[in-house]
Amino acid sequence: MVRILGIETSCDETAIGIVEDGRRVLSNAVASSVELHGPYGGVIPEIACRAHVETIWGVLTKALQDAGLSLAEVDAIAVTYGPGLPGALVVGLAFAKGLALSLDRPLIGVDHLAAHLYAAQMMQPDLEPPYIGLVVSGGHTLLCVVHADARYELLGETKDDAVGEAFDKVAKLLGLGYPGGPVIDRLSEQGRPGAVTFPRTSAKQAFDFSFSGLKTSVYQYVQRELEGRAEGSRLKADAAPHEPAASTSLDAQAVADVAAGFQEAAVEILVTKTLRACQRTGLSQIGVGGGVAANRRLRSRLTEDAAAKKIRVVFPPPALCVDNGAMVAGQAHVLLERGRVAPLTLAVDPNLCLV
Ligand code: KG4
Ligand code: ZN
Repeated sequence: MVRILGIETSCDETAIGIVEDGRRVLSNAVASSVELHGPYGGVIPEIACRAHVETIWGVLTKALQDAGLSLAEVDAIAVTYGPGLPGALVVGLAFAKGLALSLDRPLIGVDHLAAHLYAAQMMQPDLEPPYIGLVVSGGHTLLCVVHADARYELLGETKDDAVGEAFDKVAKLLGLGYPGGPVIDRLSEQGRPGAVTFPRTSAKQAFDFSFSGLKTSVYQYVQRELEGRAEGSRLKADAAPHEPAASTSLDAQAVADVAAGFQEAAVEILVTKTLRACQRTGLSQIGVGGGVAANRRLRSRLTEDAAAKKIRVVFPPPALCVDNGAMVAGQAHVLLERGRVAPLTLAVDPNLCLV
């Protein structure tokens, strides 16, 4: 029995999880600094770093308490060393090195994207490589083939915004706050299907993505709607100067319609490219990871469309889709089994991509 403690600080979540034998999640503690970034509409690196420093010890204590373990009962220390915000990664890596050194335990450096992909396998042991991996997060959108021995073959990635970033930017445009993905997910349920549609344009290359065109279409649509309303209220004011002017912001139903229209387009782009990857490679299993994998429309649409082609899709439970320490500990088990232990000189690699 091997118990690994996994540390994750690549963005705004300070997270530590403990996993036994790469499968059983004993604890998964998370402290998020998301509310500190809300007023800025996105993650501010300095604020994230400071929050990691302030909360990491408390998160460790909670992870140990929830698992009912002492530090001495942990067999290895794993940590995300990239990709992510450089300063934020440094906090986690320095903390991990301190623990590994003082406890005399191996240190395992984990690629954040590989950990996101492993989350699907962790809960569904019968999802065996090779399969198509889809990473959909705030910083990345990519398709790859996940091979055995923790090897990855990149098929394509986003050429501009990550899909989570597009959700966040559209939410900001609609005045829905940060992070936008979960709000758009919820609000889209109230949107009328097909009331607003956006073009499904994406990158030309078969497996690459592009979401900036979709984001711009949403922006232009909202501008046109607002201008139309302002014009309408001007005409009305001219005709009847004593009548109250019409609102110049979108009403709640219009916001829900735009959210639903955007989400449908983003999901369709992801589904189309992922199924194309299955068709071209002949693989009939898909594992999805990253924060956007928590999106309910993506989960249902990909599952249904794939099933129609006899393709199986595995999504991690929502708590393992967003950044967490358990996925880091789980992926580290795969690496430890292959002797892939890191030296104490390991440095952060903010641009790491599936090693
Ligand atoms: O994987 P993650 O927690 O952090 C990164 O590695 O980036 O992903 C965060 C992203 C954010 O952009 C957030 O808006 C998005 O995941 N997200 C969602 C949902 N939950 C989180 N997007 C769509 N629907 C959701 N339910
Ligand atoms: Zn992530």
